[in-house]
Amino acid sequence: MRLQDQTAIVTGAANNIGRAIARCFAAEGANVLIADIQDEAGEAVAASIRSDGGEASFFHADVGTDAGNREMVAAGVERYGGVTILVNNAHWERRGSIEELSEEDWDASFDVLLKAPFLASKYAVPHMRAAGGGAILNLTSVHGFQVSPGYPTYETAKAALIQLTKQMALDLGGDGIRVNAIAPGAIPSDEMRAENADDPIWHERNILWNVLPTVGRAEDIAQGALYLCSAEARFVTGHTLLIDGGFLLGFKGLGGTRVQEFLQRHPELLEYDLSRPLGPAAHIRGKDAAEQ
Ligand SMILES: NC(=O)c1ccc[n+]([C@@H]2O[C@H](COP(=O)([O-])OP(=O)(O)OC[C@H]3O[C@@H](n4cnc5c(N)ncnc54)[C@H](O)[C@@H]3O)[C@@H](O)[C@H]2O)c1
Repeated sequence: MRLQDQTAIVTGAANNIGRAIARCFAAEGANVLIADIQDEAGEAVAASIRSDGGEASFFHADVGTDAGNREMVAAGVERYGGVTILVNNAHWERRGSIEELSEEDWDASFDVLLKAPFLASKYAVPHMRAAGGGAILNLTSVHGFQVSPGYPTYETAKAALIQLTKQMALDLGGDGIRVNAIAPGAIPSDEMRAENADDPIWHERNILWNVLPTVGRAEDIAQGALYLCSAEARFVTGHTLLIDGGFLLGFKGLGGTRVQEFLQRHPELLEYDLSRPLGPAAHIRGKDAAEQ
């Protein structure tokens, strides 16, 4: 087992990518603290890991706050005797142009997207140092490398997170703490894939910009996370690993050509509801769902 005797905190692990990372790490022997604001979904992930023979428990943490991060790390230490892996994965953002967004939207987005990785790392680092080292993994995005309409909070925060990853890697390397990031392409959740299984157009749209003609899965990200947080990556730090099916390679040239061909093949799309989310829009629901 590649993470035997490790304790991992995974934020935003009640859903999709965080959930897959939590499952993967537990299957590789780690004790996993699932931190999220969605209690029911988070408890369900922990229970499913335990029923598969792994060790996991849920902790309600709002990582947009200082107290949430501090208490989350304290819970990991109290329950499992330390923290050696931290995955900063939670996500919430408000989308819109800079004229549409309020100051509160900006702050609330940045609290979760950028301040949370800073605070969680700040509180976890002393425990990693005490353990002789550790691994921090930040979930950024292909949107940290490009711009698209209406994403000022997300894209700015994700680009800054790539820089923060390098900064922390530089500062913490001497303590044996490695800091890396993963930039996923579009990863619809398992639920979304199942919901749209009978819709070939949904599938086709989802792979439109990928070089590899396949829809990304949370498990693809979890496998990268496992590598970066395991001893196999002992000489890797400050790196951002793209796991995007080639999205960034093909985005400008290939994507444009494919959109043209796609629309020629599907003139009926004039009637199709193009506002239906492919996956990433589901992120916005996380906090709202928990608040209901
Ligand atoms: N899914 C994709 O297509 C994709 C693409 C690129 C990057 N990413 C990044 O990967 C990470 C995971 O994405 P995902 O699709 O699994 O997201 P998701 O929206 O499915 O899940 C995010 C989780 O974060 C939790 N969360 C929200 N606010 C929180 C808070 N204040 N405190 C604690 N938890 C909170 C939500 O409850 C939810 O469980 C994110 O950082 C995201 O930006 C995702």
